[in-house]
Amino acid sequence: MELTDFKPSTWISSSKDSLKISLVSKDGAVQFAPIFTYPIFGDAEQIVGYQDLLVHLAFDSITFRPFLNVKYSTKLDTEDIDDVEGELLKVLPSDKDEVILKDEAKWVDMFEFEQKNSFKLPEDKYKVNEYEIDKEHFVVYKMKLSDDEKFLKLHRRIQIFSLFFIEAASYIDEEDFNWDIYWLFNKEKKQCMGYATAYMYWKYLGGKDFDESKEPKHYRAKVSQFLILPPYQGKGHGSKLYQAIFKNWLSNDLVREFTVEDPSENFDDLRDRNDLNFLYENGFFQELSSKIVNEKDFISNEWLLSKQRAYKIEKRQFGRLVEMIMYKENL
Ligand code: ACO
Repeated sequence: MELTDFKPSTWISSSKDSLKISLVSKDGAVQFAPIFTYPIFGDAEQIVGYQDLLVHLAFDSITFRPFLNVKYSTKLDTEDIDDVEGELLKVLPSDKDEVILKDEAKWVDMFEFEQKNSFKLPEDKYKVNEYEIDKEHFVVYKMKLSDDEKFLKLHRRIQIFSLFFIEAASYIDEEDFNWDIYWLFNKEKKQCMGYATAYMYWKYLGGKDFDESKEPKHYRAKVSQFLILPPYQGKGHGSKLYQAIFKNWLSNDLVREFTVEDPSENFDDLRDRNDLNFLYENGFFQELSSKIVNEKDFISNEWLLSKQRAYKIEKRQFGRLVEMIMYKENL
């Protein structure tokens, strides 16, 4: 034993620094650190009881079958230390043999077998959008977790990424039929690039109207978790996934408005850019300018409300967009 071994700090590791996440493909492995680990290791984001702790959590980029290997040089010989493997296993898929521990060769065999024999993209009927970036093809699918067992399994494997990268994220209720998952895939490589979860709420108009109405019920649609996996960020995929979801809701007569749950700063930025583009392409900049010029600084609330309803953009967001347009156009 050395003198430093008696210092408590010697046995404390930062969970963010110790955890190395890898995404493995034919082109090699990309490693990145998580942004948040507190849903797993607690608010202090510390792991107690180990020296030289390294936690490898790897996924192959197609099936996302997880591999976990916890390494350290020394461990405190007491029961009060953190159970790193145990805490991670609580948030990884619980089905038998889903997570491969330590045996890297077994993990490689298993995901290669799965890639060759059972992994397929979702059926075409779930496709909501398709696009190309740098000569590669990408597809967005919209599915319920109950639509296909294989994608329920994929979601169970991938959902840990929302804990790592989305502030205050928690797992969605698999039994709740109102959840939709928007999957984004690279069509040729079959890699999942990211996904969004979205919830459909009844647009409740008051008890009597709601119960007595013979009309179909209307919804407020909400993006809950939205994630582009780190290796694929900054290339326009976030915008494309957002546009696909927005377009899908715009064309759905039952959806009256769409909104976002606790958007991060980066997401707000992406949303503003895309909403402004959409309003520009739909002639709203021009309409707003001429309205202000012709009606001498007066725009009626009714007119703004009718536009907000037509575009299905939430009131507060629409107000922000109008302000941004007025500022940009010097109105
Ligand atoms: N070349 C260079 N830059 C580009 C290109 C390109 N071809 N295409 C887009 N960009 C730039 C954009 O202009 C933008 O720049 P800016 O940040 O300076 O404005 C930036 O790249 C990001 O735009 P996209 O590529 O469209 O977005 P991305 O695919 O990176 O997705 C997102 C953004 C969703 C925030 C992603 O970074 C992410 O998943 N982050 C972690 C999780 C997260 O924060 N999710 C949102 C939480 S809120 C919620 O869940 C409701």
